[in-house]
Amino acid sequence: MDGGLRDNDISKIVDLDRAHIWHHLVQHKPFETGEPRVIVEGKGMRVWDQKGKEHLDAVSGGVWTVNVGYGRESIANAVRDQLIKLNYFAGAAGSVPGALFAERLLGKMPGLSRVYYCNSGSEANEKAFKMVRQIAHKRYGGKKYKILYRDRDYHGTTIGALSAGGQDERNAQYGPFAPGFVRVPHCLEYRAQWDLSGEAYGKRAADAIEEVILAEGPETVGALCLEPVTAGGGVITPPPGYWERVQEICTKYDILLHIDEVVCGVGRTGVWFGYQNYGVKPDLVTMAKGVASGYAAIACLVTTEEVFDMFKDDASDPMNYFRDISTFGGCTAGPAAALENMRIIEDENLLQNTLNMGERMVDNLNALSEKHEVIGQVRGAGLFCGAELVSDRKTKDPVDEKLVQAVVADCMAQGVVIGATNRSLPRLNNTLCFSPALIATSDDIDHITDAVDQALTRVFAS
Ligand SMILES: Cc1ncc(COP(=O)(O)O)c(C=O)c1O
Repeated sequence: MDGGLRDNDISKIVDLDRAHIWHHLVQHKPFETGEPRVIVEGKGMRVWDQKGKEHLDAVSGGVWTVNVGYGRESIANAVRDQLIKLNYFAGAAGSVPGALFAERLLGKMPGLSRVYYCNSGSEANEKAFKMVRQIAHKRYGGKKYKILYRDRDYHGTTIGALSAGGQDERNAQYGPFAPGFVRVPHCLEYRAQWDLSGEAYGKRAADAIEEVILAEGPETVGALCLEPVTAGGGVITPPPGYWERVQEICTKYDILLHIDEVVCGVGRTGVWFGYQNYGVKPDLVTMAKGVASGYAAIACLVTTEEVFDMFKDDASDPMNYFRDISTFGGCTAGPAAALENMRIIEDENLLQNTLNMGERMVDNLNALSEKHEVIGQVRGAGLFCGAELVSDRKTKDPVDEKLVQAVVADCMAQGVVIGATNRSLPRLNNTLCFSPALIATSDDIDHITDAVDQALTRVFAS
């Protein structure tokens, strides 16, 4: 840390934070006696807190975001230059970085051709839901309005996005939700709903989606919204055979496939987009976190030309377009940062690094599972890994989440920030989460898993 803030300055910041800030995701009672954490600086894979303590960040800013690491001057410079030239104009008009980034992004997404800019993952998903509803009105007399979502998936924090939320603890106390959202079963074989395995399990889990469609009436179902790899619901990598069948089902019943790439998007799994691991052809794709690695707020909803065309087929009808705006979707900082972010990933060969380091992380975690009975299963795709903790490998009973949090706290005390599923699913907040920046080195990965090894040893010693 460069000591830019003197000791008395930083203690004032902590006091101000405690007095005025309503933090995300945490309870505040403990701050009455203890200090809230303030992160002051970041460089590469590391951040420094108010005490000057260094942390190796194994969760890319806490929530899978800072894909290219901290302190990237070239992104800061690109944003600065753009802000001086033009900071903002509403998205009814175009912008130079908006057009350039769209071209670069679409070059990574064959079959898709239109980019709608907004600010957050939740908002991008809301836009997609609105498009599906409008298409239902335009094409199907309002009938094909239902949106299917999956148990354990998450699509955002707004009431519309929570209506498509498959995480019951996250949703609890925020209802009633919007009508027209219907849940389908999850596909996690480790918590199997059917007595099958491998590809047979994957196909069966997808068939369960078809069963829901048939029960609802295919003529009422407009879209299916899925995470390619479920993130906060437990790092769920889909079983083989699942996605092929999902695609078939969508085609069979004329259902739009909306893939939520808010976590997987822009490199997290070692390919540009998570769906590209499975050969899927989506109609709508949403993305946010890694698009500009948190250097500016940006989210994108990307569609096929076919979807786009449905909103411009009758120019004589003044209602016939996507009547939507996102004020800050017109900020130019987002696409300017995103362009430079993408250049960095390409020039530094970070997709390949993600594959290599992801493999190392899964190998290390699997090695730990030989030593620590409490690791029930290790799952992962690229630098997006999870280790589910159980009190008994046979029954798969989850460990008490206080113990999961104790592991996270022990790593934090060692100066390594890891994550865990939290207030997501009743009884199943038991998966440790790892998502280091795509620049991670072998030493970083070993450092993270060594810290986990020590933490598991201490927490489950007795
Ligand atoms: C899969 C997924 N979709 C959507 C969102 C919502 O994104 P945001 O917090 O930017 O609204 C998240 C956030 O964690 C997410 O994990």
